[in-house]
Amino acid sequence: MKNKVLLRTFGCQMNVRDSEVIGGLLQKSGYQLCDNDRDAQIIIFNTCAVRKHAEDRIWSLIGAYKGKKIIGLVGCMAQNYKERAFERDPDVSFVVGPQDIHKLPEILGKIKNKSLLERKIWETDSKLRPEKIYHQQFYQDKQHAFIVISEGCSNFCSYCVVPYVRGGLRHRKPEDILNEIKTAISHGISKVTLLGQNVNAYREAGVNFAKLLEQVNSLAGLKEIGFFTSHPKDAGQDIFKAIRDLEKLAKTLHLPVQSGADRILKLMNRGYTAKDYLALVDSYRKIVKDGKLTTDVIVGFPTETQEEFEETCALFKKVKFNSAYIFKYSSRPGTEAAKICETLKPEEIEKRHKKILDLQRKISKDLRQ
Ligand code: 5AD
Ligand code: SF4
Repeated sequence: MKNKVLLRTFGCQMNVRDSEVIGGLLQKSGYQLCDNDRDAQIIIFNTCAVRKHAEDRIWSLIGAYKGKKIIGLVGCMAQNYKERAFERDPDVSFVVGPQDIHKLPEILGKIKNKSLLERKIWETDSKLRPEKIYHQQFYQDKQHAFIVISEGCSNFCSYCVVPYVRGGLRHRKPEDILNEIKTAISHGISKVTLLGQNVNAYREAGVNFAKLLEQVNSLAGLKEIGFFTSHPKDAGQDIFKAIRDLEKLAKTLHLPVQSGADRILKLMNRGYTAKDYLALVDSYRKIVKDGKLTTDVIVGFPTETQEEFEETCALFKKVKFNSAYIFKYSSRPGTEAAKICETLKPEEIEKRHKKILDLQRKISKDLRQ
């Protein structure tokens, strides 16, 4: 019997949650999850495609198992490669996109009974996941649960692969979300983090994100609520007031800025200017006294000039984020930004990355003191 599975997870919190969903489904179907590759017959890579670096790393990890295990490529990279994954590494036996993860028990059932050469299955065509996969009450942590409120993204920021691999924005129904949380509370969960690519755009059955937060806040037995990610074009006072007023909600906001230069923001298709962003931060700080603020930024977007990079640094100095995730631009095939031919030299991107990293380290340190 080939029944022991190792699930290896890469990327964002959404993937962490997806791996729980997969783990729950597999356990229910008689598979045993294990935490090391010695015991496992099947290794599932739940993957990220946001940056090339992550993909390269995963291919090299897969390469190390040459012929020794049944390998599955699941998640964003699987959706990106589809059946091309079998060409890239013939040791991959199955490829399953993020919208198809509910089919995994069936796929594993088929794979186990096939000879090595026949073992090629890919499922990357679904548009939606069945709601019921979220209700297995399978969470890694005893106290804390990630709760998906929306899937996919329709913003098409020009650098980003997410709308292509996870599809357009869909929202779960408020009652489904609340039911999942209520049951989780009855199983001992006391903290939740609401997840979506752009939670501020949540709107379903007349309930917007601020209202949803209010409803979650009112659940008895729940102690702490967090959420991410927010998009500046959809974030506003109603959310800031919720952070101020709802006693269970963490007084912190993750608001990715991506760049401090208007021309770059426009090329990125972000839908706001640096001035808009600063006004939003101002409003947040006026409403949420002592609220924390964190961000994401990309350095070295195609055609970014030294002056434009300095504008991002100036915005960092002005805003003083508590912390920031600083990314080097990575070209993703199929995105709009990948069509811009004028790219920066890796050494230049490296230089800017180091500079802003040092700047942010100093700001974070000063704020902590
Ligand atoms: N290159 C570099 N960083 C990226 N991100 C998304 N796509 C890319 C890319 N192609 C970053 C953004 C986003 C975070 C999750 O990853 O900053 O907010
Ligand atoms: Fe990507 Fe932009 Fe959607 Fe975030 S909001 S997932 S960066 S397209």
